[in-house]
Amino acid sequence: MCGIVGYIGGRVAADVVLDGLSRLEYRGYDSAGIVVASAERPELDVVKRAGKLQVLRDALTERARAGAPLRGVRAVGHTRWATHGKPTDTNAHPHLSEDGKLGLVHNGIIENYVALRDELKSRGHDFRSETDTEVLVHLIEEQYAGDLPAAVRAALTRVRGAYALVVTHVDHPQVVAARATSPLVVGLGEGESWVASDVPALLPYTKRVVYVHDGELVVLDASGATLQHLDGTPVDRAAEIIEWDADAAEKGGHPHYMLKEMLEQPDVLRRTLGGRVTPDGLDADLELALDPRAVDRVVLVAAGTASYAATVGAALLERLGRVPAGVVVASEFRYQEPVVDARTLVVAVSQSGETIDTLEALREGRRRGARTLAILNVKGSSLAREADDVLYIHAGPEIGVASTKAYVAMLGAFALLALRFGRARGTLDDAAAAAWVAGLDALPDVVALALSRRPQVAAVAERVAGARDALFLGRGFDVATAYEGALKLKEISYLHAEAYPTGEMKHGPIALIDRDLPVVALATPSPTYEKTVSNLQEVRARDGWVVAVAGDGDTGIAEHADAVLYVPVVAEGLAPVVNVIPMQLLAYEVAVRLGRDVDQPRNLAKSVTVE
Ligand code: AGP
Repeated sequence: MCGIVGYIGGRVAADVVLDGLSRLEYRGYDSAGIVVASAERPELDVVKRAGKLQVLRDALTERARAGAPLRGVRAVGHTRWATHGKPTDTNAHPHLSEDGKLGLVHNGIIENYVALRDELKSRGHDFRSETDTEVLVHLIEEQYAGDLPAAVRAALTRVRGAYALVVTHVDHPQVVAARATSPLVVGLGEGESWVASDVPALLPYTKRVVYVHDGELVVLDASGATLQHLDGTPVDRAAEIIEWDADAAEKGGHPHYMLKEMLEQPDVLRRTLGGRVTPDGLDADLELALDPRAVDRVVLVAAGTASYAATVGAALLERLGRVPAGVVVASEFRYQEPVVDARTLVVAVSQSGETIDTLEALREGRRRGARTLAILNVKGSSLAREADDVLYIHAGPEIGVASTKAYVAMLGAFALLALRFGRARGTLDDAAAAAWVAGLDALPDVVALALSRRPQVAAVAERVAGARDALFLGRGFDVATAYEGALKLKEISYLHAEAYPTGEMKHGPIALIDRDLPVVALATPSPTYEKTVSNLQEVRARDGWVVAVAGDGDTGIAEHADAVLYVPVVAEGLAPVVNVIPMQLLAYEVAVRLGRDVDQPRNLAKSVTVE
């Protein structure tokens, strides 16, 4: 989703902003631009291009060669993920006012932009782009009379929707930013300051940051940043120190972030699980105010991969904690008039903590009186601020757009939460709790072993890469694994993939089966193992090409499959953590063979901050 970087200070502002934008590329984008203010020019200097940042860099190099480099001490840049209007040079941000003095970038959607545009046009404004953003430029331009923060405040009273915006004016020695829903963070240095949509843009320069909250405006000048509410009253918030270093966000020698992040999963699990089991080894200590005995029902809200983690989480909460639990896709929840009350726990699950659908679902739950818990990776994110309780998964920065290590860490967090529920509610006895904790202790090494089987997955990927579609099947806890396997393959290889509970296959999808359709079936030990084997025979009887994911030592499965991906065997409830590894590797190996942009697949954004 769009990335924003603003800078004011003594460095070459355009270079700092471009560097920051490159560190936000993981968010996904399809055009980029930059605007610079300098005392030597009466107008802002803007360059913007459709395509990747390199296209913008090339344009800037050309300008420099022609003797007109982009110079100035204030700059604002943007990577745009198109919503209103195609990814073209014209629609790219920044957008300028008609007099060329005011420049603005925006992340989010202005919901009442059509009415505002018509009104502004009727007052003679000339619109150049197809974006919703441009109304902001004209609104602020109309209000500007030498005081940029006041003009932004006044303009925003007219606006409905989500935004993080940054504005600069050639006659005004400050950069002004404001937030409603879309993330913004300020970086503080000595005689310089930044504003960005995410921390990685700031890390090479400063670790001192202040998070901007909804309904706040920030004014940057060389001496620092001041926060205020949209009514102009000041906000006093202390800076925080970020613990991640810039290296943590680099590829660590691997060709793709996704591969690096998959290989990190054993360490990630050690972080997620480490230090969270009570000294007697029978319970989880998660530092939550929540009392599981005060919960009659759990509703989990999430999107994409996080929703599949939530599906496993719901099954674990039911199995260990004997509490009814179900997942509602976050984008649907708030429109369902959901039935929740004070004894309902709404659990929002999100890597970024900024997914607008999930954030709005959590808000809906709160509005209706439910207690809320957020299971998150990114600290200080919007969801973290709004939930009653937060359980961090400690996956570290995830840069690849396709989520891998965050998924596994979410499953680890759910395994702990289910343990807590089971113990608090008296539904998990000592022996079962001890066995569960022993399983958790072994998980990081087991996942490392599963990752070491990459060559066997690569051999299967050769064949899958030549297919047009694929079908993923799983039962029980592994229904979610099948969905996640299909999503991973779709996202990064662009092959069409479907997932079904294995038992559903005969109710329709079986019509798809022929020799060209790879069928990837989760078949590790479970009470339904034999039924799964029967279903595999049904596929093979129709010439389908079966790839079985089976437990080590299951020699019999080879009779029912064309290829077998062996994984170490763990307790049934923990199997999704292990079984997803060949799913991730398969998607990766196929995407590499097809020459896809693995880390930034087309049309996708890392953090989806629009509805
Ligand atoms: C995962 O590979 C996806 N790109 C996507 O489905 C993602 O999981 C979803 O958008 C939710 O993101 P979140 O965890 O940051 O809320």
